[in-house]
Amino acid sequence: ALPEKVKIVEVGPRDGLQNEKTLVPTEAKINLINLLSESGLPVIEATSFVSPKWVPQMADQVEVMKGISRRPGVSYPVLTPNLKGFQAAVSAGAAEVAIFGAASELFSKKNINCSVDESLQRFDEVMQAAKEAGVPVRGYVSCVVGCPYEGRVAPEKVAHVAKRLYSMGCYEISLGDTIGVGTPGSMAKMLEAVTKEVPVSALAVHCHDTYGQALANILVALQMGVSVVDSSVAGLGGCPYAQGASGNVATEDVVYMLHGLGIQTGVDLSKLMDAGAFICRTLNRRTSSKVAQATCKL
Ligand code: HMG
Ligand code: MG
Repeated sequence: ALPEKVKIVEVGPRDGLQNEKTLVPTEAKINLINLLSESGLPVIEATSFVSPKWVPQMADQVEVMKGISRRPGVSYPVLTPNLKGFQAAVSAGAAEVAIFGAASELFSKKNINCSVDESLQRFDEVMQAAKEAGVPVRGYVSCVVGCPYEGRVAPEKVAHVAKRLYSMGCYEISLGDTIGVGTPGSMAKMLEAVTKEVPVSALAVHCHDTYGQALANILVALQMGVSVVDSSVAGLGGCPYAQGASGNVATEDVVYMLHGLGIQTGVDLSKLMDAGAFICRTLNRRTSSKVAQATCKL
């Protein structure tokens, strides 16, 4: 059976923009987040507290956090790879953070410059500090079906890392098909393994749409009991450490599908499309959302 409600985690301002080659003005990032807030989205990942040498596009994280208008009831988590990032995030007013690991050794090395085991040690430090500060922590696992450097990834590896993050205290584990190579087949096998270790109510899926399978993969995840979906307005984005991977599934397309299934999201699709149109105008880019491109209406 499908869930009655789905929580959408909007990752556009972070995952969507982190890979942009030219610096997006801080004001535009703030405006985008504010427009997204007005659409009724419950969670908007705002930025990341990572090294500006690694991801220059996120170097204005403090200004973004200070500049946004926080809508009551909406949470604005940020990525924090280590204790330094966590402390900076909390000082800038972040009330929720996310740690991000991987199911593949080589991706971990390229993305956060350490092995999977080392990353879990760093995350444990973040977790201890977060518990003391009363800050909820979300955990990401990247490369849950495939890795740009290692190829296919075994479902058991994903289950292992997901379980470690969950046992550490992450309230939710987001399973990332970072390069968008998954199919409903590989997705289902991966989820079967992970749900043996982590309760399905604590799982989210984070699909990139490189091979055009994202909506199908999400539908399979919903059928298996997942009720949290990550997506990016206008389908923006990609990961700087995953060459050739396209953006996340477009939030507009996810909302259209969910509403069509009779699933509640709390999101106003037309306001969401305004946010998408704004960022596409700013970036001088065509939207990747099929729904935003569509001109025929029911
Ligand atoms: P490192 O070079 O190994 O770290 O980087 P270090 O501890 O040796 O420090 C080196 C320098 O970075 C020092 O500065 C530190 O102070 C500084 P220096 O002395 O050279 O001037 N530094 C920091 N600065 C700001 N914020 C920090 C921080 N930490 C250290 N938090 C590090 C390790 C993790 C910092 C680096 O590799 C990094 O920032 N990586 C982030 C990469 C990233 O953001 N990737 C994209 C997000 S993941 C993703 O997109 C996937 C996801 O969407 C899910 C999916 O799709 O699957 C989540
Ligand atoms: Mg991603």
